[in-house]
Amino acid sequence: MTKPTIAGNRTGRKLGQRVKNKKMKASSRQWLHRHINDPYVQRAQLEGYRARAAFKLLEIDEKHGILKGARRIIDLGAAPGSWSQIAAKVTGSTEDDIRVAAIDFLEMAHLPGVTILHLDFLEPDAPQRLVEAVGGEPDLVLSDMASPTTGHHRTDHLRTMHLCEVAAHFAVEVLAEGGHFLAKTFQGGTERDLLNMLKQNFRQVVHVKPGASRAESVEMFLLAKGFKGRNVDHGTISA
Ligand SMILES: C[S@@+](CC[C@H](N)C(=O)[O-])C[C@H]1O[C@@H](n2cnc3c(N)ncnc32)[C@H](O)[C@@H]1O
Repeated sequence: MTKPTIAGNRTGRKLGQRVKNKKMKASSRQWLHRHINDPYVQRAQLEGYRARAAFKLLEIDEKHGILKGARRIIDLGAAPGSWSQIAAKVTGSTEDDIRVAAIDFLEMAHLPGVTILHLDFLEPDAPQRLVEAVGGEPDLVLSDMASPTTGHHRTDHLRTMHLCEVAAHFAVEVLAEGGHFLAKTFQGGTERDLLNMLKQNFRQVVHVKPGASRAESVEMFLLAKGFKGRNVDHGTISA
């Protein structure tokens, strides 16, 4: 008879385990404790995703239906690669017909059907290389980019918001009509000018906080749905 799995944990590892290593810094111990007891980490391992972040995208998709019908996807800040795994699957991307381009300045292990650019997205040639890699206008631009933490909260916040803004302008330059843009942002962090720009270019703009995004984190996602296209008249903006 097979051993029954522990309730609430299909990996067989008990939730609520303690980390006892006394040589470790308290903050590292806390992080490790939270990590090994995180049901999304365990689910990611079980379902073969490279990161728990997979469930953020899947939850957002469940509610907002952004993946269905996507033919080409660009994934910004992609390492270790769980969003790219999902993107390759939904687009049916293969080595012979690549439909997904991913970029990160960190190393990322090969994924079948994904062209990985080992590059900073802020480099001037990154946008063009991404579009070339995916072979045409994408239907979906994803950005989970977060600036590496410096320990100075305000600096980290501003840098990540800058990445969100650059990603949004990129999306408006490259998306196919009807396409969507999803990007990491922070609670209360999205600048009014950026929101206005997105509202002019997309049919719907919302902030979302998926369950897989830790409640104590100020992380949010900005979702802009239904790109109106580059040739539409957005009307006159009064000064
Ligand atoms: C939260 S992780 C992404 C996780 C990913 N969505 C997944 O599912 O595996 C954020 C990533 O953004 C990357 N990143 C941050 N700034 C970047 C930049 N300027 N250019 C490229 N990648 C960047 C980081 O290196 C990091 O790997």
